Amino acid sequence: MATSLLRLPSPFDAHVHLRQGALMRLVTPHVQQGGIKMAYVMPNLVPPVTTPSHALSYLKELQALSPNTHFLPSMYLTTNLTPAQIREAHAGGVVGVKSYPRGVTTNSEGGVGMEGYGVFDEVFAEMEKVDMILNLHGEVPSDVDGDGCCVLNAEPRFLPHLLEIHRKFPKLRIVLEHCTTAAAVECVKTLPPNVCATITPHHLALTIDHAVSSPLHFCKPVAKYPSDRAALRAVIREGHPQFFLGSDSAPHPSGNKMPTMKVLRSTLDGGIDEVTLPSPCAAGIYTSDNLIPLVATIFESSDIPLERMSGFVSEFGRRFYGFAAKPEDEVVIRRIGEGKVIKKAYQFERDGDAGREYVVPFMAGEKLNWEIVEA
Ligand code: DOR
Ligand code: ZN
Repeated sequence: MATSLLRLPSPFDAHVHLRQGALMRLVTPHVQQGGIKMAYVMPNLVPPVTTPSHALSYLKELQALSPNTHFLPSMYLTTNLTPAQIREAHAGGVVGVKSYPRGVTTNSEGGVGMEGYGVFDEVFAEMEKVDMILNLHGEVPSDVDGDGCCVLNAEPRFLPHLLEIHRKFPKLRIVLEHCTTAAAVECVKTLPPNVCATITPHHLALTIDHAVSSPLHFCKPVAKYPSDRAALRAVIREGHPQFFLGSDSAPHPSGNKMPTMKVLRSTLDGGIDEVTLPSPCAAGIYTSDNLIPLVATIFESSDIPLERMSGFVSEFGRRFYGFAAKPEDEVVIRRIGEGKVIKKAYQFERDGDAGREYVVPFMAGEKLNWEIVEA
């Protein structure tokens, strides 16, 4: 008979976006609701979290909204960051520094551009010394008319940067975030255990066909080929300890994800009077609200044994980040015969007077096979 109860030691989401203002107030409590006890929070706010004091004041806001979740703060890598700030951040409890390639994703304008990663040598050396983690968004910016870089090859083309940073700073703890390709999996497997990778649930489920047919499936990096998805599934099936859960849960107001094109009025001669053009679709998939039941459901549909859940959602990430699970933080999930329909949307009031908005979760309207057993 199929397993009906799963015990998970204090699940850890090693990559989550919790935003600011009204959206932050909506989604922050969802981390706990989704079965997560500890979460590493991304710094791509507006303005980005570039200083230790900003990281710690943001952490305070999050803790006030969800006191029973253990949030780990991060900082955004910019060329203004100094070794002294690294020491200050580390002493204050900031866990890592996140690097964004410039212009590739949400709020990445302040990220790493053509100057490359060599300009950060002093900062990386200090991080290696104090043992702070470097989180890499592993893509190079698109340059379609130049070197031919585009969303489909952006991750494989980033891997030489990963190898070079690791070569220069062999003790630095590095996470290749939300890896999506067989090439990235192979690359990380060749490196020692101080270099790991996170995998999202949506990249275990989606391929490029989904990404090009719905804005709700658009995220960065985009989902790739079926063979890439197979490699992500296979490395988890193997129980490989260098690969663990980082949801990259990234909520956006639905109006930013699904911009409509409106033809307001057609003229009698068949022409068009006025057209509202859509804005580009925001990258990001929202999964926090049901994260652990969702991962279990996707494991089953991906033919990954449920015995692999505990390592993937808790042990491997916790070991790497250095936070042991407390026995009282165990999370139990149970199989539900009928399935539970995923909420179609969360409503919230936008900041200011911008009106009502919605966040649509991943797989909205579809069924989960698992639910959290309330303690
Ligand atoms: O899809 C994504 N959304 N990828 C990222 O790297 C950032 C994230 C966001 O903040 O929306
Ligand atoms: Zn992210």
